[in-house]
Amino acid sequence: MITPTITSLLNAKAFESLVQSRRSVRKFDRSVSVPEEAIHRSLQCALLSPNSSNMQLWHFTWVKSPEVRARMVPLCLGQNAAKTASHLVVFQTRIDLWRRHARWNLEQTPPSSGSESDKRRMQLMRKYYSVLMPLAYRTDPFGLNTLVRKLGSFLLGLTRPVMRLGGRGWQRVLLHKSCGLAAQTFMLAMQAEGYDTCPMEGFDAVRVKKLLGLPAGSEICMIVAVGKGTPAGVYGDRKRLPLEDVVSIV
Ligand SMILES: Cc1cc2nc3c(=O)[nH]c(=O)nc-3n(C[C@H](O)[C@H](O)[C@H](O)COP(=O)(O)O)c2cc1C
Repeated sequence: MITPTITSLLNAKAFESLVQSRRSVRKFDRSVSVPEEAIHRSLQCALLSPNSSNMQLWHFTWVKSPEVRARMVPLCLGQNAAKTASHLVVFQTRIDLWRRHARWNLEQTPPSSGSESDKRRMQLMRKYYSVLMPLAYRTDPFGLNTLVRKLGSFLLGLTRPVMRLGGRGWQRVLLHKSCGLAAQTFMLAMQAEGYDTCPMEGFDAVRVKKLLGLPAGSEICMIVAVGKGTPAGVYGDRKRLPLEDVVSIV
């Protein structure tokens, strides 16, 4: 175990107060505009979020234009958070990018120094992104790839622990997990910048995709409204189930 240093304890306190101070804010102060640099920095932080196999199958559309933002309001069902936001960021999953990102990951592998361990590492990387990723993400109209994935993991799983691969639903969960983490990193980063956010799933996904010209392979995970919060924008005290109801220790 790593003994916490004074610095890490201080950081833990700072992190806790950041988490404590974040609330979903539904009414922003329209007289305060969030600087673009703060959004930019927070998006940079979001990029650093953990994600499945580093495939980064996500895309973030920053709605900066007041005209587009105004057109987004009815599509976000007229929610106050969207109405009063200074910016909106649409977090999307992008299953359609898997081939390109698998290739990109392969290209990032540093050249082998020629040592045996390096050669093995390269081989593993190649196998991971040119065999395993296609196995996980390939689809076909007849569901044959899904069948292979399910049957393969079922048969292998009879004798040893394996990751249970699945079909389209399983792939979507995979992508939304990573995208949700990116949205959370973004929200915490905005909080650290001194601004507030509201994640939203109350929107018309079909119309938002059309308005923003998002590709067919994209799926909106959530839309995050950003602005300077007002006390009226926080709807009541924060309520959470007690830790004992949620956490089990074995
Ligand atoms: C995926 C997701 C979708 C949400 N959608 C909405 C939404 O459409 N409208 C809204 O006002 N709040 C939305 N929320 C905010 C939640 O209601 C809020 O996080 C929850 O009540 C806890 O409050 P807190 O964020 O202030 O701690 C959403 C939160 C998440 C994580």
